[in-house]
Amino acid sequence: YLAESLTILVIGASGDLAKKLTAPALYQLFTRDYLPKQMTIVGYARSEKSDEELRKAWRPVLLEAHEGEEETIDAFLSKVVYRRGQYDSAEDVAAVFKEQEENEQADGQQVANRLFYFAVPPSVFADIGAAIKEGALSQTGWNRLVVEKPFGKDTESFEELSKTINGLFTPEQTYFVDHYLGKEMNQNLLVLRFANSMFEPLWNRNYIDSVVITFKEDIGTEGRGGYFDSFGIVRDVMQNHLTQMLALIAMDAPVRASGENFGNYVRDEKVKVLHAIKPISIDDCVLGQYTAPDDGSMAGYTEDDTVPDDSVTPTYAALVMHVNNPRWAGVPFVMKAGKALDQKKVEVRIKFKTPVAAECMFPDVRVPTNELVLRVQPNEAVYMKTNVKMPGLAGVPVATELDLSYRTRFDDKMADSPSAYTRLILDCLRGKQASFVRDDELRAAWKIFTPLLHDIDAGKKQPTKYKAFSRGPAEGDEFVSQFYKRDPTYEWHPPAKG
Ligand code: BG6
Repeated sequence: YLAESLTILVIGASGDLAKKLTAPALYQLFTRDYLPKQMTIVGYARSEKSDEELRKAWRPVLLEAHEGEEETIDAFLSKVVYRRGQYDSAEDVAAVFKEQEENEQADGQQVANRLFYFAVPPSVFADIGAAIKEGALSQTGWNRLVVEKPFGKDTESFEELSKTINGLFTPEQTYFVDHYLGKEMNQNLLVLRFANSMFEPLWNRNYIDSVVITFKEDIGTEGRGGYFDSFGIVRDVMQNHLTQMLALIAMDAPVRASGENFGNYVRDEKVKVLHAIKPISIDDCVLGQYTAPDDGSMAGYTEDDTVPDDSVTPTYAALVMHVNNPRWAGVPFVMKAGKALDQKKVEVRIKFKTPVAAECMFPDVRVPTNELVLRVQPNEAVYMKTNVKMPGLAGVPVATELDLSYRTRFDDKMADSPSAYTRLILDCLRGKQASFVRDDELRAAWKIFTPLLHDIDAGKKQPTKYKAFSRGPAEGDEFVSQFYKRDPTYEWHPPAKG
């Protein structure tokens, strides 16, 4: 596509998502020469704004992440323009592309590709989608849509959205983003699991005791309370990001990991896993909501002006799922997610069973179990909790780790690693759909969560309050300990660099 022209229409260009995530990702692609020479980014939204005003809004975010790159940033921004229009007006959208035709055809270009980036709420998808279809499709190149969550609030609203989008565009044109699929460690799962001979033979109910997927943030919902309150933590990160991770961890090997149809091979396997999970029951979860910490350094969730005082929206949840297939029957998959917790981290723990030999040979000591830990962020790492003999004169097993820290091992690569969005937009430009979510995956994921969400919405379980910056409600830890026992004696220390 590099020899073809490209116009990127960023719909909702005035918003935060466009500024904080889309623009920096496009900039990273620009600096790495992944965008064609004939390329224009057109910001599109309803408010009145000049080209320069949009550039002014985007510039500081780029500068903050790329100090000293003023010139390159200005070169990038010179490719950015802003056009005002209504979301339901085919005429307004058509006018944008009428104006762009000259650029698209410069230097005798014959192929004009168009990327429509939906950085807008789903309530306007139908209008803008119809307007694009009527007035903006390229006749000479590809037309692709990048669509951001939320993809509905439950099965029913998802079906509506799906009908709208599928009524206008083909699945090959539609790229549903789950940015967790663009993260380094999640992209790594295919290789780690299937390009090593030591994991796959053990990757099943015979050797694995439990899987725990943890998402912790040490900030609250500041500034986003309005959105968050009608979604809650389960919709915000569990039904999508963490479920996608679960699918990558639990799936069977795809037929191929490259080439034509690769995207569907991967997604076929992921969707099979999701189909094997029964809907979650409200009895299989614990909910929490944060309050201000003792030192008052942060407001409690309901103290946010955009959140009703009596809101019972969970900002924390712990729940368990079971993948009922021959590989995983009986293995609990625990998910834990929360805002305003004691630390910021996303990780997966795969806990192995205690070897029978250890039980026989060391009847009097507690032999720690092996765990493979995939640290998604911060500081990507893969480490395997491994027992060795305590060095010295004692002979007891002690937990240590075989440790791969990305910062240490891939110093140069990690210093300037692409963001999840950078990878995903590049995949979209290349027509690769493997790291985007397919319609049937979304449907299957909603099926798992909808009964639980409806019960939560109906107030069948109230969230337990927890202090901001704590581990969450004590019930959460108790609940998780039924499936996974923490080893209080072990703490991982990321290896020092160098
Ligand atoms: C978003 C959620 O999808 O993911 C946010 O809406 C959450 O609430 C964010 O903070 C987490 O993404 P990341 O990349 O910061 O881990």
